[in-house]
Amino acid sequence: MKLRAARDDDRDAIIALLDAESLPTSDLWNRALEDFIVAENEGSVVGCIGAEVLGGTALLRSLAVGVTSRRQGLAGRLIESLEFKLLEHGVVDSWLLTIDASDFFLRHGYWVQSREDVPDAIRRTDEFSSLCPGTAIVMSKPLA
Ligand SMILES: CC(C)(COP(=O)(O)OP(=O)(O)OC[C@H]1O[C@@H](n2cnc3c(N)ncnc32)[C@H](O)[C@@H]1OP(=O)(O)O)[C@@H](O)C(=O)NCCC(=O)NCCS
Repeated sequence: MKLRAARDDDRDAIIALLDAESLPTSDLWNRALEDFIVAENEGSVVGCIGAEVLGGTALLRSLAVGVTSRRQGLAGRLIESLEFKLLEHGVVDSWLLTIDASDFFLRHGYWVQSREDVPDAIRRTDEFSSLCPGTAIVMSKPLA
């Protein structure tokens, strides 16, 4: 199982993984995948994660691992790898929205935040403003 930067030709596989989990994809058809990482096994994409980098802050998004590849620490590796990349780009804190995986992210150092404390740059993202329902839990983690 290897992790690598996503390429344009991973787009369909990433969207399929996210669609299977009912995670937002409508903005992924046209955007660059430079801040996405995939997990690959025998030539197939089995996991993905992405970020929207907004200056010194970032929105972590699109984390999914295929059903047959779960519980091997892959999501943890994807998160660590993305956070390392974000730090290299000068990002000091990472934010995310989740419907039902807040306990999972707590184990990775994220804390529940109130919506009022969300930085404006994160608030303006499509995911925050429209793609994720208002009931989603907001979490963040300092990276630096
Ligand atoms: C959440 C997800 C990415 C985890 O992938 P994974 O590669 O299996 O994760 P890891 O192997 O790193 O960690 C597995 C652990 O996380 C736990 N976990 C998985 N999903 C969880 C959730 N929604 N809430 C709480 N814990 C969860 C597992 O029970 C397991 O716990 P254990 O180590 O005590 O057995 C995967 O289950 C998935 O794609 N789910 C659907 C999409 C999703 O919820 N994405 C989250 C972003 S909104």
